[in-house]
Amino acid sequence: MTGPAVLETRAELVETLTELRAQGRSVGFVPTMGALHEGHRSLIRQAVAHGDVVIVSIFVNPLQFGVGEDLDRYPRPWSADLAVCTEESVDLIFAPSPTEMYPTEMATTVAVAPLNGVFDGASRPGHFDGVTTVVAKLLSLVGPCRAYFGEKDWQQLVIVKQMVTDLSLPVTVVGCPTIRESDGLALSSRNAYLTDDQRPQAVVLRRALDAGLACIADGERDRLTVEARMAEVVAATPEAHLEYAAAVSADRLTLTSTLGGPIRLLIAVRFGTTRLIDNDGVVLDRR
Ligand code: PAJ
Repeated sequence: MTGPAVLETRAELVETLTELRAQGRSVGFVPTMGALHEGHRSLIRQAVAHGDVVIVSIFVNPLQFGVGEDLDRYPRPWSADLAVCTEESVDLIFAPSPTEMYPTEMATTVAVAPLNGVFDGASRPGHFDGVTTVVAKLLSLVGPCRAYFGEKDWQQLVIVKQMVTDLSLPVTVVGCPTIRESDGLALSSRNAYLTDDQRPQAVVLRRALDAGLACIADGERDRLTVEARMAEVVAATPEAHLEYAAAVSADRLTLTSTLGGPIRLLIAVRFGTTRLIDNDGVVLDRR
């Protein structure tokens, strides 16, 4: 099996993609921070199925990590990632170093407010500005027709779509469903940080979402009651510390007292220093 070409510089990337576009090929792009798992594979498979030239970026973006977060210990299993990309028939990998990506000090930040300051943005100040700045830069370098993002990171997906609309970027953002372990835990590179004791408890995120959805299915439309139901499930799990459990409008992440229309349940739970997020959705009649 021949593997993908690995490009480490912006110049090589732009040159290669310009050539491919001149041949009339369209480009599908999957941005990642590596440590690739089945969730990433599902994004890549959607891109491959579309028949485009598929490019995966692997870049642990320092801009989106806060002080004291896991930038240094974030997993970087290069050979395993290369093997995944080879197995999934990826055409190109873009794997720049931090200095290649940020050769000079950045004077420009792309910030999508106020979405960048709520939920994960409140817990991780500056995180989403780091994400949107690197994604804008990557989209500008790659120039894809389609870019694939996971619903696992719902707030990120909403923010990236908003950025693409606001800046009229000529790309279609494709949201892909969350891939889970058999017990319901959403796949995440950060699951590797969980201890043997914490791992079975981590299913509480899925269980809290299910409890919220069941509550809504039973006819509950009061937001605070649904959120309290989710919080109750987390509180019963010894090592789990709830950061937030919220029922929001799926597209704007706004809070209303009565639930109606497309709703997303969002949850963030800490186990020691490991922070996990998850979400699920339901479409209700408009109130
Ligand atoms: P990373 O966490 O590596 O995720 C890359 C993409 O994979 C994201 O779009 C994410 O939502 C998706 N993904 C992760 N786990 C998933 C799962 N279990 N099911 C489906 N999709 C999943 O998200 C980032 O990197 C970065 O913020 C990035 C967008 C690359 C910018 O640096």
